[in-house]
Amino acid sequence: MTSVAIIGSGPCGLSMLRAFQQAQEKGSDTPNMVCYEKQSDWGGLWNYSWRTGTDQYGDSVHNSMYRYLWSNGPKECLEFADYSFDEHFSKPIPSFPPREVLYDYILGRAKKANLKKYIKFDTTVINVIFNGSKFEITSLNKKKNLISRENFDYLIVASGHFSVPFIPEYEGMNSFPGRILHSHDFRDAEEFRNKDVVVLGSSYSAEDVALQCYKYGAKSVTIGYRNNPMGFKWPKGMKEVHYLDKLEGNKAIFKDGHEQHVDALILCSGYLHHFPFLEDKLRLKTHNRLYPPGLYKGIILQNNHRIFYLGMQDQFHTFNMFDCQAWYARDVILGKIKIPDDTFVKKDINEWISKEEKLEDPIQMIDFQTEYTKDLYSASDYPKIDFELIRKHFKNWEHHKEEDIMTYRNKSFSSPVTGTKAPIHHTIWAEAMDDSMKTFLSTK
Ligand SMILES: Cc1cc2nc3c(=O)[nH]c(=O)nc-3n(C[C@H](O)[C@H](O)[C@H](O)COP(=O)(O)OP(=O)(O)OC[C@H]3O[C@@H](n4cnc5c(N)ncnc54)[C@H](O)[C@@H]3O)c2cc1C
Ligand SMILES: NC(=O)c1ccc[n+]([C@@H]2O[C@H](COP(=O)([O-])OP(=O)(O)OC[C@H]3O[C@@H](n4cnc5c(N)ncnc54)[C@H](OP(=O)(O)O)[C@@H]3O)[C@@H](O)[C@H]2O)c1
Repeated sequence: MTSVAIIGSGPCGLSMLRAFQQAQEKGSDTPNMVCYEKQSDWGGLWNYSWRTGTDQYGDSVHNSMYRYLWSNGPKECLEFADYSFDEHFSKPIPSFPPREVLYDYILGRAKKANLKKYIKFDTTVINVIFNGSKFEITSLNKKKNLISRENFDYLIVASGHFSVPFIPEYEGMNSFPGRILHSHDFRDAEEFRNKDVVVLGSSYSAEDVALQCYKYGAKSVTIGYRNNPMGFKWPKGMKEVHYLDKLEGNKAIFKDGHEQHVDALILCSGYLHHFPFLEDKLRLKTHNRLYPPGLYKGIILQNNHRIFYLGMQDQFHTFNMFDCQAWYARDVILGKIKIPDDTFVKKDINEWISKEEKLEDPIQMIDFQTEYTKDLYSASDYPKIDFELIRKHFKNWEHHKEEDIMTYRNKSFSSPVTGTKAPIHHTIWAEAMDDSMKTFLSTK
C-alpha cells in the first residue's frame, strides 16, 4: 500500500490529513499516513507556549505567537469550506478573534474528522533521505529518547516557516544595557509597560508587536523600517523612522539622524525557511515570498514530484489556501491529477514567478494569491467557497488598515461559506485587554 509521511500537525499538516480523510469518506482507498509532530499537541503555531529557546528535551521551541494575539485578517478570509465558523461555534461570532478562538476552530475540524490517530506526538523528524524509490525518515521520540527509521513513498513537508528567526546584528548590541529579543521570543507586551521600545521591521510582526506594546502601556514605541515604511497613521506615542544605524548605550541612532532612548529592542526581522532535517537535494531554498521558486503549483518540488511542500508562501490567504494545496497534493498522490512534463512544469513556474516579480502593492498581491488559490481550487473537489468574496474582503481590510490601524479589527465581514454577517464585537480592539475565548464569546 502507498505510504505518506507528513512532517508537522499545524494547519497545513491537518489540511493534508483532512483531505485524505474526506476522500476516505467518499469511498476512496487512501494511503497509510504517519504525521510526525515534535510538539506534544497539534495546531502548530496556534498551539501557544510560554516557552522560548528550547523545550524540556533541548529541541527548539516552535511557537512564535504571543499573549493578546488577535487575528490580523478577517476570519472569513481563512474559513474552511467544509467546516464553517457557524458550525463550530453554533452562533455568529465577530470577524477578528483572538488566537485561542482560532485554535479552537482549527481543532474542531480535526477532532470531527478524527485525525489524531495519525499523529505521532513528541516526535521530531531529524533526517530525511530519498534513496531513489523511498523516503527514509529518521525520527526521535523525545519522551522515550528513541530513534526510529521508517520508509515512505511520499513526503509532505508541513513544518511551517515562521518559527526559525532571522536575527541581524547592529553595532552597539554587545554593550546595550537593555533587552534585545526577536519577535519569535516575544510573549507578553505587559513586560514593556512604561518602557521606551524600539521595533525593527516593516511587516506584520513589526506592525502588531509595536501596536501591542503601545496598547499595553509602553512609554514610547519607535519603529525602524529598512526599505519602506508601513506608513500607517500611528497613534500619539508611536512613530516610524528609517532603519537603525547603531546603538550607543541606551541610545538608538537611526539612519535618518533620529535619536531615541531605548529600554528594549525587538527585532521583527522575519524568519528563515529552515529544513535542516532534509538532505540538500530535497530542500526548498527560498525567502518569504508569494511564489517560492522550484515548486510546481506552489507545492510540488520541481526536481522530485514525490515531495510536497505546504504553506511555504508568504501569506494573505491561509487555512483555505492550505486546504486547496492539500486537496491538490492528495489528488496527485491518488493518481487523479497527472503532473505534466518537465518543460511545461518549468514554464508554468516561471510564469507565476515573473507575474509575482511585477507586483507593486498589496492589492495586486492579494489578486495574485487569490488567482493562485483559485487555480488549485478549480482542480479538486474542495467544497464550495466564494474566493471572489474573500478577494473583496482582503481589499476592504487593506483599506480599513490604511484608514485607521487602531480600528480595522472592529469591522465586520460576511462568510464566504454560509453568507453569515459577523456581529460587531462587544468591545473595540483597542480596549479589549482580555484575549480569552470565554470573554470574546460572551455577549457581555
Ligand atoms: C506571530 C504570528 C502570527 C500569525 N497570525 C496569523 C493570523 O492572525 N492569521 C493567519 O491566518 N495566520 C497567521 N499566522 C500565519 C501562520 O503561519 C499560519 O496561520 C499557520 O500557522 C501556518 O501553518 P503551518 O502548518 O504551515 O505551520 P505551523 O503552524 O508553523 O506548524 C508547523 C508544525 O510542524 C511541526 N514541526 C516543525 N518541524 C518539525 C520536525 N522536524 N519534526 C516534527 N514536527 C515538526 C511544528 O511543531 C508545528 O506543529 C501567524 C504567524 C505568526 C508567526
Ligand atoms: N495575527 C497577527 O497579528 C500577526 C502578528 C505578527 C505576525 N503575523 C504573521 O506572521 C508572519 C510573519 O510576519 P513577519 O513580519 O514576522 O515576517 P515577514 O512578513 O517576512 O517580514 C520580515 C520583515 O523583516 C524585515 N527585515 C529583514 N531583515 C531585516 C534587517 N536586517 N533589519 C531590519 N529589518 C529587516 C523586512 O524588511 P524589508 O521589508 O525591508 O525587507 C520585513 O519587514 C506573517 O504571516 C504575519 O501575518 C501575524
